[in-house]
Order: sequence, then C-alpha cells, then structure tokens
Amino acid sequence: MSDSRPRKSLAGRTPRLGVLHIASEVAPWAKTGGLADVVGALPLALDALGHRVTTVLPLYRGMALPGAEIRPLEITLGTRRWRGSLHVLAQGARRRVVGVDVPDWYDRDGLYARGGRDHPDNAERFAGLAHAALDFAQHDVDGGRIDIVHAHDWQAGLVPALIRQQPARWTRVARAGLVMTIHNLAYQGLFPKDVVSRLGLGWDMFTLAVGEFWDQLSYLKCGIASSDMVTTVSPAYALETVQPECGFGFDGVLRAVGDRYVGILNGIDTSVWDPASDAFLTAHYSADDLTGKRQNKRALLDLFGLPVGDDALARPVIGIVSRLVDQKGCDLVLAATEQLMQLDATWVVLGSGDSHYETAFKILAGRFPSRMGVRIGFDEGVAHLIEAGADLFLMPSRFEPCGLNQMYSLRYGTVPVVRAVGGLDDTVRGYAPRARRANGFKFRDATPEALLRTVRQALRIYHRTDPWAALMREGMSEDHSWGPSAREYVKVYRQARYAAALRWAE
Ligand code: ADP
Ligand code: GLC
Repeated sequence: MSDSRPRKSLAGRTPRLGVLHIASEVAPWAKTGGLADVVGALPLALDALGHRVTTVLPLYRGMALPGAEIRPLEITLGTRRWRGSLHVLAQGARRRVVGVDVPDWYDRDGLYARGGRDHPDNAERFAGLAHAALDFAQHDVDGGRIDIVHAHDWQAGLVPALIRQQPARWTRVARAGLVMTIHNLAYQGLFPKDVVSRLGLGWDMFTLAVGEFWDQLSYLKCGIASSDMVTTVSPAYALETVQPECGFGFDGVLRAVGDRYVGILNGIDTSVWDPASDAFLTAHYSADDLTGKRQNKRALLDLFGLPVGDDALARPVIGIVSRLVDQKGCDLVLAATEQLMQLDATWVVLGSGDSHYETAFKILAGRFPSRMGVRIGFDEGVAHLIEAGADLFLMPSRFEPCGLNQMYSLRYGTVPVVRAVGGLDDTVRGYAPRARRANGFKFRDATPEALLRTVRQALRIYHRTDPWAALMREGMSEDHSWGPSAREYVKVYRQARYAAALRWAE
C-alpha cells in the first residue's frame, strides 16, 4: 500500500509528538520478559528525542505503592461493571507512567497465569486495560495532544480496535496514528467468541477483516487489523513471520498488511545494562579493564554453590537466563545434556516457566552438582550477575522475535552462542576462522547435534587467547542503545499519522 507512505510535504519534520503507549508489562514496575524492558526503555529514548510519552500499564499485586490518584475509574464490559482508579507511577517533564488499579483484575498472583494455568478472566482483564487506557486518554487534559497510540502485544490489541469502532466516544484519540507492535506472534490473545457479547465488544469486531481467527476472537488480530502501522521487533522476524512456517497462522494477515508492516530492532537500556555501573555486580569493569569480570565469575559460582578454585575459574562458564518454554529451545539443551555435561565447562541456569523444563533442569543440577547450578525463579539481580560472570551465554531459541539477552551479553563481554533466527540472527555475527567482526557463535539447524557442535567450537576458541579477546572486544564495542531504533519508531509514527489522515479524508 504505497499510498500510506508519507510524502515530504505532509510528513515533513514532525516536531514534538504526543505518544500513548499501552502494555501489560513495563520495567521496572512489572516484568516477566523482554516486553517490559522494551516498553520501559523506548519512552526514555523518545523523550530524549523531544517527544511527550505516557505509558499505561496495570497495577499488579506487589508493585510499589502508586503515587497520586489521577481519578476514579468505572469500566462497563457488557452488563458488568468494575471499579478502580488511575494513578501516576512516575512523572517527568515529558514522560509519565500511569497505573490502572482495578483490584478485581490485577491484585492477584501472576501477571497472566497462576500455577501454569492462564487466569480464566484474561479476556476481561485486558479488555479492561484497553478501556482504562482510553478512558485515561479521553479525560487527560494535562498531557497535551495525543498524536500516536502505540499498543504492545495482544494484551493491548483491543485499543486500536476500540478507537476504530467508536471514534465518537474516544474523540481525543480518534484521529491519532495507530501503531501495533508484535513482540511475539506465539501469543495471540485467543478467546472463545462468546466474549464478544459478554464484554459488549460488538460483532463488527468478530469479522474476518478484524478479529475473527478460526472462529475465536484474537485480540492481537484486532490490533493488527485496526492499526495504521504494524511493527515487530527485528527485521529478520518481520521476514520470517510473513512465511507460513513461522507465521503461527498469522502470515496471511501480516502479508495483507503489506509495507505497513516493519521490523525495528529493539535496543537495550544502556543505563541499566552497563558493566561499568551495574548495581547488581560484585565488581565493575569495561573493555579497557576486565579484571572485574573475573570477580563476578567467582561471585557467580559462589552464589550457585559451585567450586570457586583456580581450576573452576579457568574453566568456561556458560550462562542461560530464560523463560523455560518451548520457544527458547530448552528441549535442544536437554536432548544434548549427556554430551554437554562431558565438556569442560560449568553451567549456570536461571529461569522459570513450564514445570517439565523446571524439573528437568533441577534434576540435572542434582546429577552434576559441581558442573551445573540451577535457580528456578525470577531474579533480576542474578540475571545481571550471570551476564557479567559467565564467559558464554547460550540462546538456542526455536524462534526469537528479537531477544535482549544476547545484546546484554555482548555488552558484558559474554560471548553469545545462538541459533540463527529472528533478532538473534540480526545481532550475532558467527565466528569462522577468517570471518571479520564476528561477535559470537551461531548455528542454523534446530537439532541437538548442531547445538553441540557449536558449543564445542566455542569452547575450543575460548582457550585461544587472541581470537577470544577479539570476540569479546567486538561485542563490547557495539552500540545497541535505543537511539537509532527510537528514530525508526518516529519514522513509523509519521507514517501512521499520515495513514490516519488518509483514513479520515476518505
Ligand atoms: P523474552 O521476552 O522472550 O523472554 P528477551 O531476551 O527479549 O526474551 O528478554 C528476556 C528478559 O527477561 C531479559 O531482560 C532477561 O534478563 C529477563 N529474564 C528472563 N528470565 C528471567 C529470570 N528467570 N530472572 C530474571 N530475569 C529474567
Ligand atoms: C518477546 C520476544 C523477545 C523480544 C521481547 C521484546 O518476549 O520473545 O524475543 O526480545 O518480546 O520485544
């Protein structure tokens, strides 16, 4: 759809945009994965470019006490009504974070699930988030104009759909450019179609052109179909997801979006992930002086109850920090464990997720107590220490929309070993004897053999001082900060505004 491209005269230079982000996770307030890191950091980068940004997220159990109440909230979905309030969680000159406090929905254990089972009212909880964000936008007079509404993942997918459905109700955002970002196509927000009437969504949302997906309602499809621009989190994943093999059934939907679908590589928050100042580390270090990295290695081994003698310190440590789910290739690691455990390396694993993977890793730690340390759970500080203390970082993902840990690893001089998919393929340049500017190791086949071969190769190079130092240096010298990617988002915002203007001109 080439007519949605901004022409110079119309798009021009957009001075300050007002952007409203809606997401189910935002670091440091609520986090289960990379979504939180991204929605935490992108607004900072947009702010640095001069734009005004408000971010709306649910106020979950255990989050720090909210700041001032903005106003009470009453949300009606179908015939039921919920009460709550909107709170300021953080406020700067151009940036605000707003929490949606509806205790019936969010004051419980688990953001999306408890004991491995999705909360049964997730359809209500995230339709409610969309309504709360729109209600906030409609009544917010302090924040100035909203030019862009930017929804993240299925949990915010109803936001653009509701705006398109009820422009007369949501007048303050009706003409805004609508942007939907897909962080992971595997999570589609699918619900039985009775939610349409139960939540009063209107059957016009349950059409093939909007949210109907194999006789269910998909919140993600609602968002994709209703937005002016759709983005995902790496160029490679954008290419992969328009193919039937990697599209999770959405490839046709995304092909139909055409060139309004764009891949923008995530950045990392270099103020939070910086080995020279990271508050979670035992010692700070930089590419110029790596002594601190060895101290972190000792602290890491110690923390995991592993040997810390000279032999152990000389042996490479391979780190894993991951949601323990199929996506992350846990099965490939487990299928290769007998051979992996014979290698001269120590393993440190932090993760939580599917109980069969949690159990399998715990069993391994029990069998190889001096070679494998395992922590099941979510621990931000330990994640940072692994990035700093490990020598290699393994991410054998079956698919990976972007992946942040490989970029944290690069910055921490911890050489990544990855499968060549999605954002991992975009950010890691695999080692080969004469390859220039390699920063890690990568393999293509999703097999235990390919994984094993590549880990073996990495360990051989680890013992060769010069090529290993070159790998570390290369990674540590790279710039993965948000600046360039935030500028890409601003381009997308301009295109979205233009597309919205066209919609209204029709
Ligand atoms: P995904 O979002 O698919 O889980 P990413 O690589 O984009 O993968 O981001 C994962 C983020 O979550 C990183 O910041 C990583 O450090 C963090 N993380 C994942 N599992 C844990 C854990 N068990 N404890 C602490 N942090 C974790
Ligand atoms: C998702 C993806 C991950 C990506 C993150 C942030 O959780 O699985 O690859 O880095 O979102 O965009």
